Amino acid sequence: MVNRRIVEVLRNGQPDELLTVQGWVRTKRELKGFTFIEVNDGSSLTSLQVVLNQDLPDYDKTIKKLNTGAAVEVSGVLVASVGKGQRIELKAEMVKVHGEADPETYPLQKKRHSFEFLRSIGHLRARTNSFGAVFRVRNAVAVAIHQFFQERGFLWVHTPIITASDCEGAGELFSVTSLDLKNIPRTPTQSVDYSKDFFGKPTYLTVSGQLEAEVMAMAFSNVYTFGPTFRAENSNTSRHLAEFWMIEPEMAFCDLEGDVDLAEAFLKHIFKYVMETCSEDMEFFNQRIDNSVLATADNIINQQFERITYTQAIAFLEKADVKFEYPVSWGLDLHSEHERYLCEQLFQKPVVVTHYPTKIKAFYMRLDDDEKTVAAMDILAPKIGEIIGGSQREERLDVLERRILDQGMKPEDLWWYLDLRRYGTVPHAGFGLGFERLVQFITGMGNIRDVIPFPRTPENAEF
Ligand code: 4AD
Ligand code: MG
Repeated sequence: MVNRRIVEVLRNGQPDELLTVQGWVRTKRELKGFTFIEVNDGSSLTSLQVVLNQDLPDYDKTIKKLNTGAAVEVSGVLVASVGKGQRIELKAEMVKVHGEADPETYPLQKKRHSFEFLRSIGHLRARTNSFGAVFRVRNAVAVAIHQFFQERGFLWVHTPIITASDCEGAGELFSVTSLDLKNIPRTPTQSVDYSKDFFGKPTYLTVSGQLEAEVMAMAFSNVYTFGPTFRAENSNTSRHLAEFWMIEPEMAFCDLEGDVDLAEAFLKHIFKYVMETCSEDMEFFNQRIDNSVLATADNIINQQFERITYTQAIAFLEKADVKFEYPVSWGLDLHSEHERYLCEQLFQKPVVVTHYPTKIKAFYMRLDDDEKTVAAMDILAPKIGEIIGGSQREERLDVLERRILDQGMKPEDLWWYLDLRRYGTVPHAGFGLGFERLVQFITGMGNIRDVIPFPRTPENAEF
């Protein structure tokens, strides 16, 4: 008999079809003379209802094993369902229990579990409705991202995970070393002798693939990265991970405005794709997680984002009749409460803030003519705050050298990056989108730990 995915059976299955499904039991209901089980194989939120009649061989023995969590293979015939809630159901003719799940100890019983509890069973939580929906949407978002760039002729490039440079200059680096930590080689002045280390110099897990993406953009014009990035920020918030995925497009012959245009079109495309391909999961989020999820998607797809400068943003915040915890004044960075005020209260849609003060942004951003600001842009989203950070890059060799020195960095460490400005330099721009923040934004999930299968946060790397 043909093996079928449950999503496909629920969508297209017709009475009298003979088929086999494989999955895990979600629930069991024993009635007089027959038993219902719900089987889920992860392909859809809805499970397939299976009916077992007592005339099945070994009926009593089999249904004892069919507890929540058991892995089963069921062959039978599809029949129109007389019960409410489903169009068709599977009348079992053969049931094979691959692996039982002891109801005394299996932690996922049929009731609502808190997300905190589910985090403590990270190896099992993917079998719940919420996590099933999250990881299907996460997959769809990844597909939409590749589709968007591939349709526009961008080259997907693979930047290194181990690097010697700190792209953001924020010092939030995880070191990579093969030195024996119990017996560290020292230089005559007692600092660590990195010449003895694996790469002969200090290396780290990357915080961003941008610098290498710029190298590739200087040959292929339009490129993007999609890979894991790492930050040792000790911030235990609902929006920070120590390991997260980032998408970083980089475009040659592009300025800040082109960068913002691409970012806006990009977010709209992703929301559209998810609404088209994951409608059942999106309805679920709207009903059970956050009742503004569908309205948000509609808003993103159909409204133009607001675009303001940092200087205008500060003026709006100074006028706001809200008491902020952190001070607002020109020159200070925006905190999440300020970002959220702008997009939740003031504009009620994503807000693009451009031209931030030079002092609070990274060395590679293009200096504006007044030298007080740089051609930076952040996209702020309701409930999330910053979801995208990007900029036009400094393409002028002398200005870039000065900026590197101003930030206390050494130009010789970035000689290859400076070479891009020596040979065939061109205005170029790009941005970084935090993949998990985007999945949070789309699904309405409150905590970033719940949109990645294996979250890495301070003091947490169990699963
Ligand atoms: O603003 P960031 O630091 O920008 C960069 O890394 C640039 N090199 C990007 C570029 O221009 N190519 O980070 C980009 C985005 C943020 O807007 C946020 O969505 C996400 O990455 N992000 C995090 N997501 C989860 N956990 C963290 N600790 C994050 N830090 C940044
Ligand atoms: Mg940023």
